[in-house]
Amino acid sequence: MEQLLRNFFLFLSKNRFFTKLAKRYGLRFGAGRFVAGETIPNAVTTIQQLNGKSLSVTIDHLGEFIDTEKEAKEAADGCIAAVKAIADNGLDSQLSLKLTSMGLDISEDIVIENMRRILKVAEEKDVFITIDMEDHERCQRTLDIFKQLRSEFEHIGTVLQAYLYRTAEDVEDLNQYNPNLRLVKGAYKESPKVAFPDKKDVDENYKKIIKMHLLNGNYTAIATHDDAMIEYTKQIVEESNIPKDQFEFQMLYGIRVERQQELQQEGYKMRVYVPFGNDWYGYFMRRLAERPANVAFVLKGVIGK
Ligand code: FDA
Repeated sequence: MEQLLRNFFLFLSKNRFFTKLAKRYGLRFGAGRFVAGETIPNAVTTIQQLNGKSLSVTIDHLGEFIDTEKEAKEAADGCIAAVKAIADNGLDSQLSLKLTSMGLDISEDIVIENMRRILKVAEEKDVFITIDMEDHERCQRTLDIFKQLRSEFEHIGTVLQAYLYRTAEDVEDLNQYNPNLRLVKGAYKESPKVAFPDKKDVDENYKKIIKMHLLNGNYTAIATHDDAMIEYTKQIVEESNIPKDQFEFQMLYGIRVERQQELQQEGYKMRVYVPFGNDWYGYFMRRLAERPANVAFVLKGVIGK
C-alpha cells in the first residue's frame, strides 16, 4: 500500500498540468508545513528564525518545468533578488535552484546565460549556490553544466544521488574540481535500469559515497533524515580525523526539527533547506511520496480551510 502511494505521489509530482494549476492558485492543502511562504520577505523571516537557533540555511527558489525563455529569465531574476536579500539582511544562508527552472528543457545556452548572471551576483555578495539534482534523464546535462560553471566560478556546488548506479564514478570524475557536493539518497522515480531498486543497496551506496568524498578531502554536505547515515558519518569523520569544517549535515524545513537542533547542539554544522515561492507543487508531492504518513497533515490542511 505504502509503495502504491509512493508511486502515486511521484507520478503526480511530474504532472505539468497540476504544477501550473497549483502555481496559479497559491499555497494550499498543508504545503505550508514544508514551504516557507511565497515571497522573499516570507523567506527572510523564516531564515532569521532558523539563524536565531544557530541553524544555517539554504533557500530554494522553487521552480521546475519551465517552458519559455521568459519564464526562465524571471526565475533567474527571482534567484538574484533572493541572493541580494540574503546579503542585505546579513543572513547565514545559501541558495539552491533547479536547472529546469533556468531553462534546461529549452536550451543549455539559456541555462548557462541565466546561471552566469546569478553567479556573478553570488560571488560579489559571497553567497554560495547549489544546483539541485533532478531526475536521471537530466543528470548528465546537469553535471556537464556544473563542470563548465565550476571552471569559471568558486561559489557553486551540486548534488549527487546515492540511488543511481553511476554515482560512485561521478564522485571520482568530479574530484578534479574539488567540488562542494551535497550527497542525498535521491527523490525521483527511476527505472531499475539506472537506479538501485532496494533501499538496502541505496543505503550501502550512500555510505560508500560519503566516505569517498570525505576521504578525497572535499567539502561534503550529508543531506538526510536517516539516523543510521548520520551515525555512519560521525564514525568515519572520527576514524579519519576529518575536521568539522569539512562537512555539514542538512535536513529539509519542517522535517525532524528536534533532531536538527540536537545535531547543532552537538557541535555539528546543521543547514536547513528552506523552499519558498509559488511553484511548490512538485516539491510537496515528492515529500509526500517519501513519507505517505504526511498525507495526514494535508488532510488537516484541507479540512482546516
Ligand atoms: P529515508 O527516506 O530513508 O528516511 C529516513 C528517515 O527519515 C525515515 O524513516 C523518517 O523517520 C525520516 N523522514 C524521511 N523523509 C521524511 C519526510 N518527508 N517526513 C518526515 N520524516 C521523514 N533529492 C534529490 O533527488 N535531489 C536533490 O537535489 C535533493 N536535495 C535535498 C536537499 C536536502 C537538504 C535534503 C535533506 C534532501 C534532498 N533531497 C534531494 C531528497 C533526498 O534525496 C531524499 O529523498 C530525502 O532526503 C529522504 O531520504 P532520507 O535520506 O532522509 O532517508
